[in-house]
Amino acid sequence: MLCADLLQILPTVACGLKAPNMQSFRFSLRFILPLALVVGLFAYAVMPVVNDMTVRWFVRDLEARSQMLASALQQPLLEYVADKNQKKIRQLFDRSVQEGGLYALGFCSPSGQLLYRSSTYPVVLGCRAGGAGSETQRSLVDLPDGRVHVTESQVRQGTEVLGQLILVHDMRYIERRTAETQHYLITLFALLAVVISLITVFIAHLSWRGWINAVKGILHLDERSSRSLSAPPEVQPLVGDLRALLHEMRVDRRGEGVSAINWTPEKLRSLLHDELSGDQILVVSNREPYIHTRTPEGIEVRRPASGLVTAVEPVMRACSGTWIAHGAGTADRETVDANDHVAVPPRKPSYTLRRVWLSKEEEQGYYYGFANEGLWPLCHIAHVRPVFRTSDWEQYVAVNQRFADAVIKEAHSEDPVVLVQDYHFALLPRMVREKLPRATIIMFWHIPWPNPESFGICPWREEILEGLLGNTLLGFHTPFHCKNFLETVDRYLEARIEHEASTISYGGELTEVEPYPISIAWPDEFPRSVPDCRADVRRELGLSDKHLLALGVDRLDYTKGIIERIQAVERVLELYPSLIGHFSLVQIAAPSRSSLDEYQNLESRVRALALRINKRFSNGSYEPIILKIEHYDSEDVNRYYRGADVCMVTSLHDGMNLVAKEFVAARDDERGVLILSQFTGAARELHEALIINPYHIEQGAEALHRALTMPEGEQRERMRSMRILVRDFNVYRWAGRMLIDAARLRRRERVTARIHSQSRKALRRVV
Ligand code: G6P
Repeated sequence: MLCADLLQILPTVACGLKAPNMQSFRFSLRFILPLALVVGLFAYAVMPVVNDMTVRWFVRDLEARSQMLASALQQPLLEYVADKNQKKIRQLFDRSVQEGGLYALGFCSPSGQLLYRSSTYPVVLGCRAGGAGSETQRSLVDLPDGRVHVTESQVRQGTEVLGQLILVHDMRYIERRTAETQHYLITLFALLAVVISLITVFIAHLSWRGWINAVKGILHLDERSSRSLSAPPEVQPLVGDLRALLHEMRVDRRGEGVSAINWTPEKLRSLLHDELSGDQILVVSNREPYIHTRTPEGIEVRRPASGLVTAVEPVMRACSGTWIAHGAGTADRETVDANDHVAVPPRKPSYTLRRVWLSKEEEQGYYYGFANEGLWPLCHIAHVRPVFRTSDWEQYVAVNQRFADAVIKEAHSEDPVVLVQDYHFALLPRMVREKLPRATIIMFWHIPWPNPESFGICPWREEILEGLLGNTLLGFHTPFHCKNFLETVDRYLEARIEHEASTISYGGELTEVEPYPISIAWPDEFPRSVPDCRADVRRELGLSDKHLLALGVDRLDYTKGIIERIQAVERVLELYPSLIGHFSLVQIAAPSRSSLDEYQNLESRVRALALRINKRFSNGSYEPIILKIEHYDSEDVNRYYRGADVCMVTSLHDGMNLVAKEFVAARDDERGVLILSQFTGAARELHEALIINPYHIEQGAEALHRALTMPEGEQRERMRSMRILVRDFNVYRWAGRMLIDAARLRRRERVTARIHSQSRKALRRVV
């Protein structure tokens, strides 16, 4: 089945397998037609040259023969001319004509009178140059019967010229020969063309067949087993790609049934009920979904700017359970109960938030240090050097243990389903596994996973990998990140990797590694219409109704390409000065990790760049860069999404990027253009965005101009297709797929456990 699918997406392979006759015919035509064309052209160009050459060879031959004949006739002719023996001359001429292959012979007096001639001599030819002129003259003469070649050769007695011997050769014979030669040559060329074509087609068919068989072999073998393949050398480069493709398809196929489902919170809830009924769900993340902050007006609740929270929160609402996270808000302690629990969401509680408290040192070492100065730049490869300190590592280990203890404490059974989030907890899965060996631990790594070389610079790489292999299921955004992870484990640990099944067996435990592209919850409705949002946003910014707006929404992070985005805006104003005064970029940047040098530097650079560009293009109040370095809540962000003309996502590297999906979801008017970095996971799904390389400033500027001038019809077409994808591939599907896989693995584990216990019992009975 898979094989058939793969063949469909490998059209060339399919050609060879599905309809051999028709395909062979077309395939052969592809060889024969160009060859016939080349041969035809060749014949067309070469034939006149060949003709010309053949005629010249024949004429040269004639001339030589005429010369010889003229010399041979000199002596008897002198004699007979002196005797004026007309009869003898005529006999001589007729005989010579017959034996010498001539057409006719004649003799002219020096005054140009035809004195003697063979019976075949054409009278119209008369005498040519007469006695004057050079010794031998040659010419081609057209007679009514056809063309003849005439050689006039002087006959001398000492110095006295007696006359001209005229030798006439029939050229029609030569022309006939030339035509025949030409005919043979054309036939030969045609035959050659056919023979070469047939040989080519035959050889091509042989190699084609070999190739197809090899590919078939790979596919069938790959479907059934993981044996290493001995493909012929020409197919070797394909083996890896085919295997990867097969795996991707297998994953997709598994997800196919899942895709057919219309994913809603209710669906997720019923799935949890059917597949994991009675099982407890625990989520662990560093960032909490609700932060309580003390303000002069009292305690405020805020949702943090975090892709992770955006994705996991709707899932928790749907399935309840307990979410364990760092209590980082200034009023967090005041809002929990004796067990550090608080029911959330505040307005309509549906699950429990369990807060874990960290000291300043712990937060510094584990969160700022190891997670955000070490792992974050390590995994993003955005040209910021990772910093690894032993003291940070020690805190990272300790805090992972604290959270693992919290999980164990919160667990009501010995086999809960634990959903671990992100790079803050690489060690936690193994720590939990040691205490709760029967737990189903699913971890999602929300950021990219780098290649083995890049990851190799981490001094604690083995410990991190071992920690992650405590998971039952490990998810990344894209198949590419999964592949990087498998290769990294392969490089640094003694583990058994089944690439086809995408599993790693380490220390007797199995971890499955799969791609689960994260998404957002599809919004039901928006409080304000798009025209109202457009007007509101422009009024708020003091801009005219027609002012064009591009929008950037990010955490203020160096991976987001904010500098490059602003540079693209500067470039577009240089390239298209008519936009000056009529277009601005609103950059909403939520302050993030601001106690770290890199983040402080970034903020100053962004501010300085915006200031310089604003000065450069400002006239009065006009600002091309409107910088909002502050936190906006989701309602405000949605208003901006709906009020903008363009949304710019220019990350230098991003696991997925949910801003891109949020923008698409917000545009129920099917307008607005998304500019999307090719280095985001989202670019693998949202093909109708304007995909750019954010490092290429000119490209960014051109995309921006294209977006600002894109006809409404095109905007609608692109937006419509992206909206269908984001709506169907929503966050409930993301969670649902992971939980379905978890349920499958749980069932397998339970069956295996039952078999083990049965066999132990049986053994005991026997003993
Ligand atoms: C990314 C990470 C999340 C993190 C978020 C915000 O999306 O993958 O784990 O929560 O950034 O960062 P912060 O450090 O503020 O939690």
